[in-house]
Order: sequence, then structure tokens, then C-alpha cells
Amino acid sequence: MAYGVDMTIDFATQTVLLTGASSGIGRSFARALAERGAGLVLVARRADRLESLAAELRDRHGTTVHTIPTDLSVPSAGADLLAATAQRGIRVTSLINNAGFGSFGAFAEADPDRLAREIAVDVSAPVQLTAAFLPQIVGAGSGFVINVASMAAYAPSPRMAVYGAAKAFVLHFTEALWVELRGVGVVAFALSPGATSTEFNQVVGTEDATAGARKRTPEAVVATALAHLARRDPGPSVIDGRANRMGAVAGRLFSRRASVSLMYRITDPSRRERESGRGRGRRRGNGERARVGG
Ligand SMILES: NC(=O)c1ccc[n+]([C@@H]2O[C@H](COP(=O)([O-])OP(=O)(O)OC[C@H]3O[C@@H](n4cnc5c(N)ncnc54)[C@H](OP(=O)(O)O)[C@@H]3O)[C@@H](O)[C@H]2O)c1
Repeated sequence: MAYGVDMTIDFATQTVLLTGASSGIGRSFARALAERGAGLVLVARRADRLESLAAELRDRHGTTVHTIPTDLSVPSAGADLLAATAQRGIRVTSLINNAGFGSFGAFAEADPDRLAREIAVDVSAPVQLTAAFLPQIVGAGSGFVINVASMAAYAPSPRMAVYGAAKAFVLHFTEALWVELRGVGVVAFALSPGATSTEFNQVVGTEDATAGARKRTPEAVVATALAHLARRDPGPSVIDGRANRMGAVAGRLFSRRASVSLMYRITDPSRRERESGRGRGRRRGNGERARVGG
């Protein structure tokens, strides 16, 4: 197997299929990629948002932008999108599996239907889309697959048990893909944001999902991903934000019992309420605080 990949992406030759483009990190990816001249295929459920973003990008950058409104919780989403792109004559050269959502609360009280949708969007869709589009991405000879995981992938996530497990799946799946694709001109890596200011918490239904952490911006997350992609030989995963990276390293020092117990305490909403009352105004102003969440 050929090891050591010297990747240089010419964005102007790329057509990137991007999921979750109607909001947050996905919308920032779309703007950053269009600015670099990439063609885009924007996917999410909210067609109106996709259309207005596409119009903005065509107008501002003159790039080709397609929109394909799709519910990724449908098991056939990968095959459906492959068929829809083929029908429009689109040849996808790179893929960003960014769409995702979480749920917060005791697992015993969770809604099984919502959990099934969460697993479908966070786990099945990235796998199915990667399987569907990888042959043409590899065939194009130069491209990337970025799968958005989370800091929640790096430690068990009590009160977000399914979300954390889903993101751990994405991390492991993508890192395995990274090594399998070495030498074929395609780089795959997992991008792990920590708490980021998007609509994520709104969808979860509570701010507790990010446990009061200082949030990074979606633009900073995308900059981290694109800087990683621009490396001479990008590794299998990247964490956004220095404090998050330090948190991941520190997490390895704990036993699994200690780690999950600590996370259970950190994500206790009543504890946070007490602490925010006491600690207001004492935080460091570096725009982030290590936290496994979101
Ligand atoms: N924000 C954070 O703190 C944080 C931290 C770590 C990781 N992440 C991850 O970052 C990624 C992007 O999330 P975000 O923070 O940008 O949140 P967001 O603003 O809520 O965006 C989520 C995106 O996913 C799409 N989506 C959700 N369900 C979908 C479905 N059934 N079918 C198609 N698209 C669907 C949404 O589009 P529609 O609603 O229009 O379908 C939206 O475009 C997710 O994978 C998330 O898990 C976020």
C-alpha cells in the first residue's frame, strides 16, 4: 500500500456534496468552499434555506451550486442522492457528512422514535452516503471526505448517550476509512468540534447539551477543517480549538469509571445552574473552555 500522501486540493476542480448546509457549521462550510471556487451540492431538509444560500453563493462567487432537499433519516438517502445527482449530471468529487443532531436527558425517558432518527442521521447517513459516492470520488482522483464527529466522541456522554455513541462511531469509522484510502488521492478525516454556536442546542431543546461551555464559532470550526485539509499529509482526525484538544488528551488519563462519572457530574443541569450563579464574571476570555459536548 502506498503511504505518505501529498494532498493539494484545487478547490476550483471540486464538486462537494455537503449535508446539513441549511444551518450552522454546514452553512459556514458552504460559504468557505464557494469562496475558494468549489462547486457545491447542498443537502438538508429546509429547501427554502438551501435555495437562498445557493442564490447568495452564485451571486457572490459565480460558483455552480445545486440544492437537493433530502431527509437523511430515510434509510435510502445515500442511494436516493446518488440517483438525484446522476439525473442532474453532477459528478461529486468530495463529500462532507455534516448533518446531525442530538438529544439530551435520561436515556430511560428518551423517545425511541427520535433516537432512531438520530442514529439514522448521525450514523447511517454518513455511512450510506460515503458508500454511495466513494467510487466516483476515488474515480475523480483528488478529493476528500470529511465526517463531522464531536468532542462527544472522545468520552462517554451521559444524558446524551446515543449522540456520544453515534459520534464515537463516526470517529472510528472515519479513521479506518482514512487508512484504507491512503494512496488513492482521497483524504478522509473526522472533524470534531466542541461546543459551537449554531442551532444545535435549539434542536436538542436545551442549552444543557453543551453544559454552559464557551462556544466557538462555526467559521472557526470550518477554518480548522480547511487548515487540516491543507496540511501536506492530513491525519485521520482533527479537533477544533486548543482547549478541546487539551481536554481530549487529559481525558485519556482518567479510568473509564472516573471519566463517565465526571461527565455525569459535569452535565448535571442543577449543578451548572448553581455554578453559573457563583462563577459569573470569573471565566477566562479565550472564547472556549474544554468540554466534551455538542
Ligand atoms: N454545535 C455544536 O456544539 C456541535 C458540537 C460538536 C459537533 N457538532 C456537529 O456538527 C454538525 C453540524 O451541526 P450544527 O452545530 O451546525 O447544528 P445545526 O445548526 O442544528 O445544523 C444541523 C444541520 O443538520 C441538518 N439536518 C438535521 N436533521 C436532518 C435530516 N433528518 N435530514 C437532513 N438534514 C438534517 C439540518 O438541516 P435541516 O433541519 O434543514 O434538515 C442542519 O442543516 C452535526 O453533525 C453536529 O452533531 C455540533
